[in-house]
Amino acid sequence: MTVSGNTPAAGIGVIGGSGFYELLDDAEEVRIDTPYGPPSDALMLGTAGGRRVAFLPRHGRGHRIPPHKINYRANLWAMRSVGVRRILAPCAVGSLRPELGPGTIVVPDQLVDRTSGRIQTFYDEGAVHVSFADPYCEHGREALLKAAAAAGIEVVDGGTMVVVEGPRFSTRAESRWFAAAGWSLVNMTGHPEAVLARELALGYTAVALVTDLDAGIDATQSVAQEDVFKVFAENTQRLRRVVLDAIGLLPESDDSPSARALDGMTLPIDLP
Ligand code: ADE
Repeated sequence: MTVSGNTPAAGIGVIGGSGFYELLDDAEEVRIDTPYGPPSDALMLGTAGGRRVAFLPRHGRGHRIPPHKINYRANLWAMRSVGVRRILAPCAVGSLRPELGPGTIVVPDQLVDRTSGRIQTFYDEGAVHVSFADPYCEHGREALLKAAAAAGIEVVDGGTMVVVEGPRFSTRAESRWFAAAGWSLVNMTGHPEAVLARELALGYTAVALVTDLDAGIDATQSVAQEDVFKVFAENTQRLRRVVLDAIGLLPESDDSPSARALDGMTLPIDLP
């Protein structure tokens, strides 16, 4: 598939912070429109880890778009329309466990949705009910864990990320409640990104960087936006390295459960 002119398609997508622009060699900007409106920004298509990769800054360039205003459907649709079938999704998270301190990288394996009012489906007609028991792609998780081990970068395998509506941080009571439920990370963007990827049969894997101890864990402080951005910036190099190396380890052929998520279903829309 050719995207436009001489720009070849990309099979792997990265949705993350703007620090990830540096991942790509020979990057070319591609503006995509979708039936759901424009994505957060132009896609950058280039090469990383020997593979064709499309990068999209989740919040747009300069972090313009807050989590509850991101056009998640447009972002995922744009990715699929340039050929992407697997997505690695680095994100900032608060920690709900004292042992997961700022700077810790976690490859979560479960998600809890505490958002409200966000559009979380492409299918407003018909019977399209995707399985979401395991929200993240096993191939992506394996590639991230292997890449980190090979680079000698410590990462935590597994954990439940609760996604809150934001844009405010949680109260201490909310945060203690999340921790008591056994969840380990809190974030504002992981949903509906993950389920919309599944609804397009894309393998989606989150990789989380802890930027702060959430309010119920650190009784002396509340979460401050400037600390979140500062810790993310300080640790983005390690996260980028893990994502870059994982790209090269993703299998070429795609027979994952995510890729088969829509098998046998009658879709009310044509996918790109
Ligand atoms: N993103 C980074 N830190 C967070 C926190 N404590 N709560 C929600 N989202 C976050």
